[in-house]
Amino acid sequence: MKSKNIIGFFVVGLALVFSFNAIAEERKKIVVPRGGGAKTFLKQCATCHKGDGRGGHTEGGNAKDLRVTKLTEEELIHVITYGRLKLGMPPFDGIIQPDRIKDIAIYIKTKLKLKN
Ligand code: HEC
Repeated sequence: MKSKNIIGFFVVGLALVFSFNAIAEERKKIVVPRGGGAKTFLKQCATCHKGDGRGGHTEGGNAKDLRVTKLTEEELIHVITYGRLKLGMPPFDGIIQPDRIKDIAIYIKTKLKLKN
């Protein structure tokens, strides 16, 4: 009788472990919409670069107009990560997650950029 109970617990336990695994597996597949960098941009960058990226004079310096930036996506990621402290552009390394910095770079290239 006792050993039957133990086996029962074992089976239930195994079933639980497997179902939790299945849930974890399921979670990985869900892609959470991240707003494409717009939200982080407005929160962290718009103070100096303005909501549309036009930039202008700030306490730090002259924030560049991101709508006409000639930087590539990789260069944008570099500038956002390491900043240009002497020129008033703060580094965001450790403040914004790397994948989110990439989102912002894409946002600058695709949404802020003036089409001509
Ligand atoms: C405290 C004000 C300030 C904040 C906040 C700020 N910047 Fe800047 N940013 C500047 C200034 C000033 C410059 C101009 C530096 C220079 O002359 O090269 C600049 C330059 C840049 C450049 C270089 C553009 C080019 O064409 O050379 C990029 C890209 C940039 N900022 C992106 C961002 C992003 C993205 C954020 C938010 C995560 C941000 N900045 C937040 C002040 C700021």
